[in-house]
Amino acid sequence: MKILVLGSAAGGGFPQWNCNCRNCHGVRSGTVRAHARTQSSIAVSINGNDWVLFNASPDILTQIRANPDLQPARGLRDTGIAGVILIDAQIDHTTGLFMLREGKPLDIWCTDQVNEDLTIGNPIFKVLSHFCTVQRQKLQVIPPQSFEVPRVPGLRFTPVPLASKAPPYSPHRHDPHPGDNIGVLIEDIASGQKVFYAPGFGAMEPHLEPYLADSDCVLLDGTFWTDDEMIRLGVSTQTARAIGHLPQSGPAGMIDLLGHYPKPRKILIHINNTNPILDEDSAERAELTRAGIELAYDGMLIDGVKK
Ligand code: MLT
Ligand code: MN
Ligand code: ZN
Repeated sequence: MKILVLGSAAGGGFPQWNCNCRNCHGVRSGTVRAHARTQSSIAVSINGNDWVLFNASPDILTQIRANPDLQPARGLRDTGIAGVILIDAQIDHTTGLFMLREGKPLDIWCTDQVNEDLTIGNPIFKVLSHFCTVQRQKLQVIPPQSFEVPRVPGLRFTPVPLASKAPPYSPHRHDPHPGDNIGVLIEDIASGQKVFYAPGFGAMEPHLEPYLADSDCVLLDGTFWTDDEMIRLGVSTQTARAIGHLPQSGPAGMIDLLGHYPKPRKILIHINNTNPILDEDSAERAELTRAGIELAYDGMLIDGVKK
């Protein structure tokens, strides 16, 4: 299977439009060695022409232009995007759907919770019913029910509930339900290769054990380095864990956790602009590298799962 990282930053992107933190100012002015990143999304394919899009970021048009494989040009109007899987209903993962409104009906797989958020809290699906329309397919997480995307044969997907957070406009922001946020096991049926994609990995839970232990590659939440990163910088009053993201450093952080799983290739994705790992010369980035953990970047092609 081929996995194309379309956007590797968290909500806001990097640099964020209104931010002058060390990273954002540094990448703009060239004083910090770092790469700009668009907002969180990947695409997965077997044949390189037909792709399953995971999340539709506000940067999707830029991402499609930057990745010509997503436009195979088989007709006057065409797209390589054969289906969309949404892992949550957050703005950074869903508002790009508006930019796809000129096309054919969108086949979108999401949980009942995400469907509700996108019908009531942020009614993107209702708005799109006046344009391309949405053909919504239900994702069932309890128990996880595997499915295939008919126009991309050869891949199997298994949605797994994650303890994370629904968006602020969700009716259940403070009343969590399984399916507010999911991870997805992506399997190449022919080769047996397994990739676990979970950009909103908020906490380790017993049912996640096999996905970390047995996958060939994991693409996990890289949002924050420390739990109080945004508080210390003075840009928010919320901790990482309070908004559904497991920080990398510290006891029981992501680095500690991944140390228990020797098998998978380990890649962080959905990186917030405040995170010091974005600075390629930082001590934090060096620590990550020593732990055998990579950082996703825009345009990264994960072909197979080995480096
Ligand atoms: C998140 O992942 O916590 C959200 O996407 C943040 C945001 O975009 O506001
Ligand atoms: Mn996000
Ligand atoms: Zn910033």
